[in-house]
Amino acid sequence: MFQSDLLKGRAIFITGGGTGLGLSMAVRLAELGAKLFLAGRREEPLRQAAEKIRKAGGECGYATCDVRDPAAVEAAITAAETQFGRVDTLVNSAAGNFIARTEKLSPNAFAAVVGIVLHGTFHCTLALGRRWIAARQPGTVLNIVTNYAAAGSGSGFVVPSACAKAGVLAMTRSLAVEWARYNIRLNAIAPGPFPTEGAWSRLIPTKEYEERLRNYHPMKRFGRHEELANLAAYLLSEQSAYINGECMVIDGGQWLRGAGEFNDLVELPDAMWEKMEQARKPR
Ligand code: HXC
Ligand code: NAP
Repeated sequence: MFQSDLLKGRAIFITGGGTGLGLSMAVRLAELGAKLFLAGRREEPLRQAAEKIRKAGGECGYATCDVRDPAAVEAAITAAETQFGRVDTLVNSAAGNFIARTEKLSPNAFAAVVGIVLHGTFHCTLALGRRWIAARQPGTVLNIVTNYAAAGSGSGFVVPSACAKAGVLAMTRSLAVEWARYNIRLNAIAPGPFPTEGAWSRLIPTKEYEERLRNYHPMKRFGRHEELANLAAYLLSEQSAYINGECMVIDGGQWLRGAGEFNDLVELPDAMWEKMEQARKPR
C-alpha cells in the first residue's frame, strides 16, 4: 500500500518512541524512509529502540527527556536538530495512565498524568511550532489520544487521562486552524485497545478482565501495532495533505459497541432470533 520512500527526507521527533505504540510507529516510519529521533525518560528502552531501527537500515537518534519539563524538551529538540539539521515532524505518543477510583486520587496523581499528556504535548508542539513559524518551514504533528477522547464520553476510572486526552484533542483542532496559515498541519489518532506492556500493566488488572474486554469487542480482538503504524504513516505523509484537525479512531468499532441502544443484541443466539422471527410470521 505504501511506497518504500513515502517519508524519505523527513525528520521525525517522537515522544514515547522507545516503547509500545511509539516504538512500533518509529520502526514503521523509518522503514518508509524517515529519520527518527526518540524521546522518553528512560535511556535503556531508547537505546535499544534506536539500535533496532539502525540495524534495520534506518537513521535514528535519541535523548532522555521528561516532556513535563519545557527546558528538557528544548534540549532534546536541539539535540535532534544537531543530528538531522532540522526536524519537520512531531509525534506526541508519550503518555501516563492508570486505573483508579477517582475519589482516591491524590493531587499529585492527577498532576502526573495531566503533566505528561496535556502539558507534555503542549511543550513539544510549541517548541517545534515556534521553530517552524520562525523558519517559515512547514510542519506536521500527530497526537495520539484515545477512543474515549474521540467519543467525547471520557471514561470512569481513568479520569486524569480522560481530561488530558480531551485537552490534547482540543489543542489539535484549535492549532489546526490557527497554524494552517504557517503550513503546519495537526491531526490525531484515537486508538482503542492495543496490547503494550505500558498500558496492560497499568490498565488491565487481570486475565479475566482482558478476556472480558476482548469478548465485548465487536471484532473479538485487540488492535495490531502495524495497523496503527500504517495509519500514522498515512497521516504524516503528503498523501493526507488536506486532512487537518482530524481525529481518526482506530478501535475496530469498540466505542460504538457501547453507543447503540440495541447493540447488546450481538449476544443474542441465532436460535433466539429464529424463534422470534417464527413468532411474528402470520399464522
Ligand atoms: C493511584 C497512582 C497510581 C495508581 C501512581 N499514582 N500510580 N495513584 N493509582 N495506580 C500516584 C502516585 O502515588 C503519586 O502520587 C503520583 O501518582 C505520581 O506517581 P509517580 O510514580 O511519582 O510518578 P511518575 O514517576 O511521574 O510516573 C507517572 C505515572 C506512571 C503516570 C504514574 O504510571 C508512568 O510513568 N506511566 C508512563 C507509561 C504509561 O502510563 N503508559 C500507559 C499509556 S496507555 P503521590 O500523591 O503519592 O505523590 C494509555 C491509554 C490506554 O494512555 C487506553 C486503553 C487500553
Ligand atoms: P507505553 O509503551 O507505556 O508508552 C508511553 C511512553 O511514554 C513510554 O515510552 C514512556 O517512556 C513515555 N513517557 C511517559 N512519561 C513520559 C514523560 N514524562 N516524558 C517523556 N516520555 C514519557 O504505552 P503505549 O500503550 O504504547 O501508549 C502509547 C500512546 O498510545 C499513548 O499516548 C497512549 O495514551 C496511547 N494509547 C494507547 C492505547 C493502548 O491500548 N495501548 C490505547 C489508547 C491510546 P518512559 O517511561 O521511558 O518515559
